[in-house]
Formats: sequence, structure tokens, C-alpha cells
Amino acid sequence: MRFTPEFLDEIKNRVNVSDVVGRRVRLKKQGREWRGLSPFNAEKTPSFYVNDAKMAWFDFSSGRNGNIFDFVMATDGLSFPEAVEALAGEAGLDLPKATAESVERDKKRTGLVEVMELAAQFFEAVLKGSHGGRGRDYVASRAIAPAVQAEFRLGYAPGERYALRDHLAGKGASVEVMCEAGLLNHGEGIAVPYDKFRDRVIFPIQDRSGRVIAFGGRALEKDVPAKYLNSPETPLFHKGHLLYNHHRARKAAQDRGAVVSVEGYIDVIAMHAAGFPNVVAGLGTALTIEQCELLWRMSPEPILCFDGDGAGRRAAAKALDTALPAITPEKTLRFAFLPDGQDPDDLAKSGGGGAIGAVLAGAKPLVEVLWSRETEATTLDTPERRAGLKHRLGELAKQIGDETLRRYYQQELYGRLDALTGGPRRGGNPGGGPGGGRAPQAGGGRPTSPFAPPGRPRFGSPPPLRGYRGSAPAQLSAGLARGPEAAGPGFKRRELEILTIVMNHPALLDHHAEGLSELAFEAPELGALRDRMVELLSEHVLDHETFKAALDLRGSGDLRRRVQALAERAPLWSTGPAAAPEDAELSLLQAMALHRKARDLHRDLQDARDALAREPSEGRWAELQAIQAHLATLEGTEAMVEGYGTLSGHRASGD
Ligand code: UTP
Ligand code: MN
Repeated sequence: MRFTPEFLDEIKNRVNVSDVVGRRVRLKKQGREWRGLSPFNAEKTPSFYVNDAKMAWFDFSSGRNGNIFDFVMATDGLSFPEAVEALAGEAGLDLPKATAESVERDKKRTGLVEVMELAAQFFEAVLKGSHGGRGRDYVASRAIAPAVQAEFRLGYAPGERYALRDHLAGKGASVEVMCEAGLLNHGEGIAVPYDKFRDRVIFPIQDRSGRVIAFGGRALEKDVPAKYLNSPETPLFHKGHLLYNHHRARKAAQDRGAVVSVEGYIDVIAMHAAGFPNVVAGLGTALTIEQCELLWRMSPEPILCFDGDGAGRRAAAKALDTALPAITPEKTLRFAFLPDGQDPDDLAKSGGGGAIGAVLAGAKPLVEVLWSRETEATTLDTPERRAGLKHRLGELAKQIGDETLRRYYQQELYGRLDALTGGPRRGGNPGGGPGGGRAPQAGGGRPTSPFAPPGRPRFGSPPPLRGYRGSAPAQLSAGLARGPEAAGPGFKRRELEILTIVMNHPALLDHHAEGLSELAFEAPELGALRDRMVELLSEHVLDHETFKAALDLRGSGDLRRRVQALAERAPLWSTGPAAAPEDAELSLLQAMALHRKARDLHRDLQDARDALAREPSEGRWAELQAIQAHLATLEGTEAMVEGYGTLSGHRASGD
């Protein structure tokens, strides 16, 4: 059923976000907002905000946000129509009437759904019965426990030509419906339609509400033409639009705040059994954009898991190309590569849940995989080749639809290239500088490029070529060797961001001085600057010029200018004096929440390390990995702003 935008708006107008969220999250009023603990991540410090006026919620621990429908879908595991139905009731609105056409369509679907369910029951019964010996032997040989077989509704299709057809006919199903459901081979040259699945172990494919809509059948013998035979496209089954195990993984993905995609049926089942129920699979073809969207509805950063061999890397590259145009700050991918020649099933058998957890914890961000793919087989020994690479990187970044993210990809990729080829070229920034039109850096004689000075790794970018396959060609390694890893002391980007926002929007102190004064800054100088700022609360300065002058008067001028200059070099969002006050406030809230979160995680990490040292166990190991993975995600935006030393050097000559 389709709902009109007016109908959806009417529901949103009638139902408070805080009421819907309040049923799951204990909320406390804070200014115009409500605040509570994130339902998506275990946390000790609240980073979940609800704003009734904006009809929206924001979860800074996971980066998720949305409206009431999104919240109910995410926490109750409902589909969109189900969420609308539930909330329409709450709003006291009747659902729009179904059309005659949609009723007809639903009736037809029902016939198909019923026959598929009967078929699934038949296959299940055969696997358990006297004709199921071959199937049972096979399933046992794959070490799938009986409880897991039952959970995934595994079955066995007997070898005879008409076993299923006759069984279903006995239940009153017509051959026509069986054909439409894809259960029989029929058509030209086939006088009598006969069973499609014969002598195969059956994996029912269920839609997101658990209804059986197709089957995959695995051959028992090695020399059969198709190892797996899948149902054809039917009115119920559109291969590229669904994920195997979606309905089970959906709930698990919410609980864990993560979802993993693998390649095969057996891989899903093995991972489920190894303690990873938040797993889905495509159906043997390359991942489609529709499947990406389904994954993104479960998690902002699904992990795609690939074989470590060449085929796996090609599949990863293809998935990357598919997703690239659609990624946004809240919708991206990570890529985990398995040890060579092993699929998740093999790995679960050889190394258990710990080995799987380690592979997932090592998942690489999309940008990393893209960079590796483009640079791995490349030599950069001529200007033509360097220009060619730059061109390719630019074209790839251009595909990203989200404007802000596109700019950051461009910066990141060009910055890495500069680090690789010995430094930025003047004017080498066709994408425009960070911060969308912020004034250029103060001081003459410095490059106008936003990238770091020659040979210095840029802000925020990990050393190029880190990790992935670890087989960088010699030329690249030599280029890298020129880039010093560290540039002396640095400031945490988040700490800079927090101070810059307040400096540019001193009115925010009114509401946030208390939260601000409780933050533990890593850099003592920044902590001291924060103290000076909070002291100024009593003066109620509203405009940033006066506020900065007041700071300078109190002897914080040098540090204040340094922080400001660093902020201008680094891409910090919504921090400038020109940003709208609400945006600045939201950025401040987010930055403070993430700052506290990172500290909590560091503490948890230490606890987990201690616990593991005291008493090693697989569970503890997995826990440690999970905290590390969470921290790694968080710290992607927690990078050090490099170039502190350099900048103070410039300051002497530039100011
Ligand atoms: P794989 O060839 O990786 O098989 O195919 P697998 O999952 O490891 O299976 P086992 O362990 O040999 O039993 C991955 C997925 O591709 C689809 C299936 O969905 C399979 O799970 N596939 C594969 C087909 O649809 N047809 C095939 O002939 C082969
Ligand atoms: Mn396998």
C-alpha cells in the first residue's frame, strides 16, 4: 500500500517524537531537547537527543537520526507500512482504503505464498522422514546442528520427478500456481511439468517478514551442473531486491547495531551458529543497490565480507562501485577480507567465533578499499601516470551524490596522492576548500591548498596503503617512506572543534557551560583555554569578536589564534561564525557527546584488556574486539590535527 506525503505528515504532526521514543528510552528534558541513553548502543553517557519541534531524533553514538517512522522501524523491527499502520492508530487516523487492483494483487500473492509455504513444509518433512537419508547425510557432513537446521527450515527435495507436484496437488494446489511459483519445470518442449528441485538440500529463502518466497537447492554430488539451483524470478521473488536471512538478521542487527553481508547460504548459517545472527547474504549475484539500501536500513555501516582471494577482491570492487553514488555521511560500507581461500563457513569451523570476530573487527573503510584498488597495481614513475591516477580518483569521487561527502572524498584522495608523490601542487584543489567558502588561512606565503605541507600526511588520513593485502608495489612504498608519520604534538580534532564552536558562538555558553566544563580534555592547554572560556560566561558576550578580544585580554590570545588557525586548516563542520546558531548548537552537542563517548570506550577497553589478561576466554576476546571496532569507527573522526609545530612556526613569520 502506498501512503501520500500528506497522510504521513498528518501522523507526524499528531504524534510527538518524545512520546514514541519515550516508550523505549528514558528521556530527560534539556532545554528545547530531550536527552537519553542511545537505544542502539550500550552507553553510559547519554548521547541520544529528541527534538519535538523538528519532529526528529538524533543518535550521536551511532550517527543515526530520523523521524517517528524510522524510530519504530529501527527499534521494533517493523517494515515501513507496518510502522505507518501502528502510528496512524496512535494518531487516531484511519488507513487509506486499498484499491480494487491492490486487493486482486494481494489475492494472487496469497495463492503463491500458500503454495510456497506448503512446499517448504514438504521439504522439511522429507528431510526428517524415511526418504531423507541422503539429505541428512549431507547436512551432517556440513556440521549443521539439528537446532540450526530447524531454525533455517532446511529441507530435502527427493529425487523423483513428481514428488512435490503430487504432494501439492493432493493439498488442492493447481499446477498453474505451482508453475507460477517456480516450483515446476514447464514450458515449450515439456509435455508434463515436473519438479524443479530434485535430490537437493533445500534452503528456503524468506522475505523480510519471514514468508517463504523462493528456494535455493544444493546438489549433493560434486559433478552436477549447478552446485546451487535457485527459484526463477516470480511475482514473489525478485532476486536482486532481497537478502537471504533478512528477517532473522533484522532484529539481531538492531540489537547489535551492525549487520554483516556474506556470499552464501551456508556462510550465513555457519556465522549464525558461531554467534553472529546479524548476517545476511546476497543470492549468488553481485550486490545490487537495492540490497545496499536494505542493508542501510539495518545499519549505517554494514560490513561486506569477502573472500581474500582475487575473486573476492573483484567482488568487493564491484560492490564498491555499486554503492559509491549512494553513500552519504550516514550510509556507507566497510569491507572485511577473509584469510585466503577461506569462506566464513570454513573460518567458523577452523577458528570459531573468535576468528570471525577478528576478521570483522579488521573491516576497512570504503575509502581505504577504493584507494588500494586504484593504487595497488599502479606505478607512478611519470607525470602522465600520476596525472592519470589523479584523474581516475577525481572521477570516482565525482560519482558520490552527497555533496559534502564528495568534497571530503576528493580531499582525502588527492591528499593521499600528494603524500605519495611528494606534496601538493599549487592550486591543486579543483573541489574547493573545506568548510565551504571559509576565509583562506591567515598568513602569506603558504600554499593555498587545504592539504598538508609537502611530505606530511594530511589531517585525518591514515597512512596510505595501510593493511589492505599488504602488497604495495615498491614505487608506492618508496613514495610513502618520504612522509614522516608524526608531526610532533597534535590536538584532538574533536577538542579543537568544541572550542572553535564556542569561540565563534559564545551565546552557546548560556546553555552548555556546565557540560563544557565537565569535559576532560586530552591536551592540557586546550583544557585551560576551555576554562578561560567558561569563566567568560558571567560576561554574557554574544558576538564572537568581543568574545575573542576578551580571551586575548586574559592572556589566551596565542593559543586562541592557534586553535582558530588549525580549525581553518582542518575541515570542521558548522563551526564558523557564519553558521546558523541551531547548526552550531547541534554540532556542539554532537562533538561533546562523541568526546564523552570516546572516553567511556577507552575506559571500557582498558577494563576489557584487564579482564582478558586475568582470565582469557573467547567471549572476552570477542568483547575486546567489539570495543576496538567501535572505537575505530569513532576515531575515524577523532584523528589528530597534524601540523601543530609547523603552524606555530608559520605563525612567527605570518602573523
Ligand atoms: P559459493 O560457490 O561461494 O558456495 O557460492 P558456498 O556458499 O561456499 O557453498 P558451499 O559451501 O560450497 O556449499 C556462494 C553463493 O552463490 C550462490 C549461492 O547463493 C551460494 O550460497 N550460488 C553459487 C548459486 O546461486 N549457484 C551456484 O551454482 C553457485
Ligand atoms: Mn562454502
